[in-house]
Amino acid sequence: MIAEEEKFLEENLTRINKALFKTLPKKEISKVTEAIHYSVMNGGKRIRPQIILILSDILNVEISNDNVDLIAAAGELIHCYSLIHDDLPAMDDDDYRRGQLSCHKKFDEATAILTGDAIQPLSLEVLTSIEDPNLNDETKLKIINLFARACGPEGMVEGQNRDILSENKVLTEEELDEVHYLKTGKLIEACVMCVCLIKKDIDDITIKKLIKFSNKFGLAFQIRDDILDEIGDETKIGKPIKSDIKNNKSTYPSILGIEKSQKKAELLINDSLEILNELPFKTDKLKFLCELVIKRNN
Ligand code: IPE
Ligand code: IPE
Ligand code: MG
Ligand code: MG
Ligand code: MG
Repeated sequence: MIAEEEKFLEENLTRINKALFKTLPKKEISKVTEAIHYSVMNGGKRIRPQIILILSDILNVEISNDNVDLIAAAGELIHCYSLIHDDLPAMDDDDYRRGQLSCHKKFDEATAILTGDAIQPLSLEVLTSIEDPNLNDETKLKIINLFARACGPEGMVEGQNRDILSENKVLTEEELDEVHYLKTGKLIEACVMCVCLIKKDIDDITIKKLIKFSNKFGLAFQIRDDILDEIGDETKIGKPIKSDIKNNKSTYPSILGIEKSQKKAELLINDSLEILNELPFKTDKLKFLCELVIKRNN
């Protein structure tokens, strides 16, 4: 069973990387396009596009696989852009990402800023370019709006803003839940919601449950990220550990300790699994992803 699902993840990964490559400008055009390839085609767990592919499969959406892959690539592009800017000296000031020098270290700061600036609209361009007989313009607009809001001033950007403002402060658990929802959860929620938008005749109760699932999953994912920042193995996570401590960030381990943080992540994943059990379709593959979130070492 598990081996089957792992195979599924591998197959999805191939689809995701192929679609991502297809969306990129030619590498040879400029230093920025070289940096785009460097920062996108560089591993990464591809969790967000995995969610899109798995959920599209489960719900048996009407649009073609190629177009599902393009939507998934758009979601991952937004994430890739956010990582480039997150690593900049003005933000977390981290020198490594996905096991290689971060973009501003490999190139320079101006190039890293421009590379992030380029990848973000590229993701929206990809979405606008999708043509599918089962995707009307109104739905396409809704998907674009969804992703734009997820990463905009009331989404990821505000999460990152509060993350920076929280340096040298101690946030309450509720405040931290909100920061993590904004900086990480909203994009994960958008990856679930975009599939709900594509799927014809999906009922409101199912949508509500899926959103709740995505929020629990997203928070558990970021809590595990915070934990790995303290106790992870740099060679596995591909980025520097103790970055949050260096920047005196408010993280779950900093306010709850490692053990309670892991417990919280596990409870959130238990809740996620329960929600998946209530859904009227086979959710094994999403459940597998849930298990990965709390066990992961990278
Ligand atoms: C890291 O995300 C930043 C967070 C929002 C937690 P991932 O852990 O998904 O990073 P990659 O894409 O696998 O490198
Ligand atoms: C990053 O959170 C969130 C976004 C990029 C939006 P972190 O700063 O914790 O991510 P890592 O640990 O550098 O990957
Ligand atoms: Mg950060
Ligand atoms: Mg960071
Ligand atoms: Mg982190």
